[in-house]
Amino acid sequence: MKRLLFAALLLLAGCPSFELSVEQSWDPQACADCHPDHFREWSGSMHAYAAEDPLFLAMNRRGQEETDGELGSFCIDCHAPMAVRLGETVDGLNLDEVDDALKGVTCYYCHTVSAVEGDHNNPLVGAGDTTMRGGIADPLDNAAHPSQHSDLHDRRSLDSSALCGSCHDIVTPAGVALERTFAEWKETLFADPSNPSALSCG
Ligand code: HEC
Ligand code: HEC
Ligand code: HEC
Ligand code: HEC
Repeated sequence: MKRLLFAALLLLAGCPSFELSVEQSWDPQACADCHPDHFREWSGSMHAYAAEDPLFLAMNRRGQEETDGELGSFCIDCHAPMAVRLGETVDGLNLDEVDDALKGVTCYYCHTVSAVEGDHNNPLVGAGDTTMRGGIADPLDNAAHPSQHSDLHDRRSLDSSALCGSCHDIVTPAGVALERTFAEWKETLFADPSNPSALSCG
């Protein structure tokens, strides 16, 4: 019932009834009319600000200076992954010139992940298409994009912890484990599939 209501509301809100191109779907604004709650929550989150955080900008700049640029995309690959993967930045020092739509951990970045090939330093693989992966098994059709259920995006599946966890565990180029959120979760009862109260990050 709630979802039928949602569909009716979308019609009333006059949501765009055209198919988004890949480029259009990079921009979180393209999702805002139809998914206003998700957009609002994301807009107030650290994911939205990850590449604007002044502390981040200062630390990345200092890291580049102290390593003569050898730090490369290490930091920015997690704080603005779309900008790196599209070749808009290689070191995060030119963010003033990068389109705001590509900064931070964006809707498109998360919702087009098709595989996770590792457990730290953002090993997420993007499909590069317009199919939005999520936790809804039978999503309603919509004009803007195809939808697909994915275990990596469904909090009821423990596999979904890899999507979050592999970007939340940081190992520096020198091999120091700076953040171990995912590794720590894996050692808890929450990660044990035989435990009835197991819980993913989501
Ligand atoms: C593997 C992905 C990844 C890499 C690489 C990475 N970060 Fe982060 N960064 C994160 C995550 C995740 C958080 C949030 C951690 C938390 O609060 O649990 C974060 C948080 C931060 C914060 C926020 C601290 C605060 O409280 O405001 C700063 C600043 C920061 N990172 C700077 C950097 C710098 C500089 C580098 C490179 C030396 C870097 N990060 C590399 C994922 C990454
Ligand atoms: C024209 C309106 C419209 C636009 C624009 C739109 N969506 Fe959707 N989206 C929908 C509808 C309708 C559903 C189905 C919801 C349901 O079944 O409850 C949906 C479903 C989803 C799902 C769930 C898929 C699943 O199977 O779990 C995700 C994720 C998603 N959209 C992300 C996005 C993102 C990201 C954008 C922006 C790039 C976006 N959407 C733009 C209308 C839209
Ligand atoms: C850090 C990764 C991440 C970002 C960034 C993100 N999402 Fe999601 N989103 C998820 C995950 C994971 C779920 C599934 C949660 C669950 O299982 O209930 C989800 C759920 C959804 C759903 C409902 C479908 C479902 O699976 O229940 C929609 C719609 C959606 N997101 C849209 C958006 C939009 C629009 C943005 C940007 C404004 C956005 N998301 C940003 C990870 C993300
Ligand atoms: C592309 C890498 C990436 C992915 C994937 C990712 N995150 Fe994050 N996350 C970050 C970064 C970077 C920050 C910190 C931004 C900052 O403070 O500058 C962050 C911050 C957060 C914070 C705020 C932490 C704090 O101390 O304020 C939470 C909570 C969080 N992420 C949860 C999740 C969850 C849940 C998922 C999976 C659905 C997820 N993240 C997926 C990179 C990622």
